[in-house]
Amino acid sequence: MSLPRVLLTRRIPEAGVALVRGRVELDVWEDELPPPSEVLRQRARGVDGLWVLLTDRVDHGLLDAAGARLKVVSSMSVGVDHIDVAACTRRGIPVGHTPDVLTESTADLAFALILAAARRLPEAAALVKDGGWKTWSPTLLLGLELSGATLGIVGFGRIGQAVARRALGFGMRVLVTTPRQVVDPTVTQVPLEQLLEQGDLVSLHCPLTPGTRHLIDAAALGRMKSSAYLVNTARGPVVDPKALHHALSTHRIAGAALDVTDPEPMSKDDPLLALPNCLVVPHIASATVQTRDRMAVKSAQNLLAGLEGGPLPWTVNPDAKKGTGYFSGPEK
Ligand code: DGY
Repeated sequence: MSLPRVLLTRRIPEAGVALVRGRVELDVWEDELPPPSEVLRQRARGVDGLWVLLTDRVDHGLLDAAGARLKVVSSMSVGVDHIDVAACTRRGIPVGHTPDVLTESTADLAFALILAAARRLPEAAALVKDGGWKTWSPTLLLGLELSGATLGIVGFGRIGQAVARRALGFGMRVLVTTPRQVVDPTVTQVPLEQLLEQGDLVSLHCPLTPGTRHLIDAAALGRMKSSAYLVNTARGPVVDPKALHHALSTHRIAGAALDVTDPEPMSKDDPLLALPNCLVVPHIASATVQTRDRMAVKSAQNLLAGLEGGPLPWTVNPDAKKGTGYFSGPEK
């Protein structure tokens, strides 16, 4: 009996690949960069499983190219905004993702950015490197003390909650905005407008959806304190980059620290990089050895479950059932 065919769109940690070895015929895209969409479509033809990353767009075109054999899309990511989940559901294809295992590493990085922004670490490091450190000074590079400061957390899922735990440990007051009712007595749920107006730091932890695209626009930035910092470890397009550049360059807000950008990757000529009060790192929130191993394993487990026709352990469309509502033609 032939093994199910799977396209894996990049090299991933061995911990995940080891689980599928001997159980699938694996075609791995070995390049450092993601496959261009045309190549992705060609390589996906006739596969039983797509094992993808957040850098691959899984849309109608790719699903059509893969064809009727496709049984599962497994993404080594918690976010699924790169996948047309509704299209997968209509075709009866379950979509797997990797929640929980990256919560702590992402919250760590968010907090690293909170500290770096509040204590102006990029400016401080640049000053030393450029020979500008002349003496200890009572007024040099004064930042924000976290103890007693207010952190606004936008999106209070697993990662937002993990950031709140860290903030409480630092003696911060925590405000949260989320569509769900929050029962945690250690934080205060407020509308977004109030969070923006009161936060000394605002940290974003919501998914990217049509409703959160450019949630932080000129009007939102206009509500923030001029001494406040914005931290984004969610998705780049949650923030309007032009509005952010304007807010930072006119000192409408004090600073920003971004793990995610729009576009991604950011070009080295991006105007945000020229600003001393903007720190950008390259989408590394989940980049620990331990987390990436666990993400690879979870995505392999989802893949195998989908290939066997069973329910996926971690799925975003539990109602997708192969054979119901399958639509083989291109969708509009
Ligand atoms: C995810 O998995 O969605 C994260 O953004 C990876 O860091």
